Amino acid sequence: MSAMVTSALQLIQSTSPSKRQRLRHVVERKGEKSMDEFASEVRGLLEAPLQVEQSLDMSTRLQEEYREKLNASDISMLPSFQHTLPTGDERGDFLGLDVGGSTFRIALIRLGAKSNGEDGMQVRRIRSFPINKAIRDLQGQAFFDWMAERIGEMLAEYNHINGTRDARLLMGLAWSFPVEQTSPRSGRLLAMGKGFKATYGVEGQDLSELVMRSCRTRGLNVEMRAIVNDGAATLLSQAYRDPSTRMSLILGTGMNAAVFLPVKALSSGKFGERPDSWHAAAKHVLVNTELSMFGKQVWPVTRWDEELNAKHMLPDFQPLEYLVTGRYLGEIVRLILVEAITTAGMFNGEMPSRLEEDYALDTRILAAFQGDNTATLTKAKSAFLRAHTMFAPPQLRELQFIRDISQLVAQRAAVYLATALHALWTLRTTAEGLEPGEASHVTIACDGTIVEKYPDFRSSCQRHLDELCVLSGASKGAVTLEMAPESSIFGAAVAVCCLEDTSEGTRVGFAAHVEQPQHPW
Ligand code: BGC
Repeated sequence: MSAMVTSALQLIQSTSPSKRQRLRHVVERKGEKSMDEFASEVRGLLEAPLQVEQSLDMSTRLQEEYREKLNASDISMLPSFQHTLPTGDERGDFLGLDVGGSTFRIALIRLGAKSNGEDGMQVRRIRSFPINKAIRDLQGQAFFDWMAERIGEMLAEYNHINGTRDARLLMGLAWSFPVEQTSPRSGRLLAMGKGFKATYGVEGQDLSELVMRSCRTRGLNVEMRAIVNDGAATLLSQAYRDPSTRMSLILGTGMNAAVFLPVKALSSGKFGERPDSWHAAAKHVLVNTELSMFGKQVWPVTRWDEELNAKHMLPDFQPLEYLVTGRYLGEIVRLILVEAITTAGMFNGEMPSRLEEDYALDTRILAAFQGDNTATLTKAKSAFLRAHTMFAPPQLRELQFIRDISQLVAQRAAVYLATALHALWTLRTTAEGLEPGEASHVTIACDGTIVEKYPDFRSSCQRHLDELCVLSGASKGAVTLEMAPESSIFGAAVAVCCLEDTSEGTRVGFAAHVEQPQHPW
């Protein structure tokens, strides 16, 4: 018996029964691996796929998969109706709706043309409603009723403040799930990830109609004028400010990218039923890639990734998402820690409270470890212990282990993401008939908590993207990741006012669409 196990057994004998229960792993422990051996195994597995040459090879394989889905797929590489990008001169007041993985936000957005010296984009009023498990569990129309009630509250507030009785507002919706566009303002509801049940019984129905039906029942004076995926919304929002924007990246609870591609990069079957006028006008099209669904056969994975996937509600549905987003980074690290505790004597075999529960380790705690520059990791330790209490305090080398694996898991995520983006950029460049070295600078508009707040994430992703660009013949900085704050909700409003509605031959927007109040918000 090792000295570590002997001392742990002594500790168990000297504690109360409830503590003994919590320490049971010490005696159940098998394998007798040391922490050092385990740590070096984890490092080896997570670092193995991070070489830039390997990423370039993965990027090539991903491009093939992208091409396949641009040719045929009804769940990814989904073309929107947007075939022009905003000029920055659009103006008007709009109600932006943003259904995300964990919040529903409603905002009154004012777009003021920059060329008139006005202030670009302004949020005049915003309300944010958390989407908890009870809301995620709402099925079918019930979910849209919940949305309509929140829209109703916002309208009531608007009318109250402005002294209007029944102002009519045009809405744009940023939807953080796949949607198959059937017109600029509508689309068929497709399977939703992130634990949502709203599609139950209504999958394939018209999303705009589902929202509007609930609004009409409540007598709300609103009209849905644009539906866009949140990735596409982010691209539109940044393009309003920066004309070099051609791609976007969302990385928060979920992940996605949008890209502005030549129409000829997609097969004609991908466009479904569209009026001839749309095809006559469109040279490019904004595509929601649903990037999270790619790379099942490309990404090298570890046994912890496999375990996460096997236990998931939708195994294999979003292989990239399960490796890189806020919902999963904590879970991957949790699975590694549980194995370290049960097989390698971490924490002397003591399982911290709740750490055995699926998804209990919040990615914010990983960020706290990575962001803690103190030698003793005091801040990170308190964040961990606040969420997961322990009887015996963790040792410094154990805290360092948590920091190291948090960093490795996040670094791998940044590298995989850079690879997926490089593949998309290369595909776009080739579709434009250019060599990588000939392409003009492209901005990728970024939004989401991980890319915005996780320490070093964006810079690490940019570094790898730069290396990949150089290796493929372009210059460093050919593609840059720029933060686009509040972009989903702004993008929803921009989508309303920059849509060329070729089915009716009119261009919407370019005017204030709300009753002009005396004292505007
Ligand atoms: C969804 C996408 C969405 C992304 C970011 C993914 O899980 O499938 O539609 O754009 O999350 O919110």
